[in-house]
Amino acid sequence: MTETPKIAQKAPFPVEVTEGKTYFWCACGKSSKQPFCDGSHKDTGFNPVKYTAEASKKVFFCGCKNSDKQPLCDGSHAKL
Ligand code: FES
Ligand code: FES
Repeated sequence: MTETPKIAQKAPFPVEVTEGKTYFWCACGKSSKQPFCDGSHKDTGFNPVKYTAEASKKVFFCGCKNSDKQPLCDGSHAKL
């Protein structure tokens, strides 16, 4: 059985990331600190996806959890 992630929202989360900083994106969709992991994946088959910012800029983290370019939005939310 393949687990389906919970759709946190059908839109990306814009975040100003800081160069060199590491972020843990929530893959399961259950975190209450979207788009980041808060440990709620504990009883799921999901693990957070690590993202290290290469530059300080605004990036769009996937909120629907169905992106093929996790942890970032690739537009897949439009097809849900
Ligand atoms: Fe979703 Fe950790 S809470 S991956
Ligand atoms: Fe998931 Fe855009 S929010 S692909």
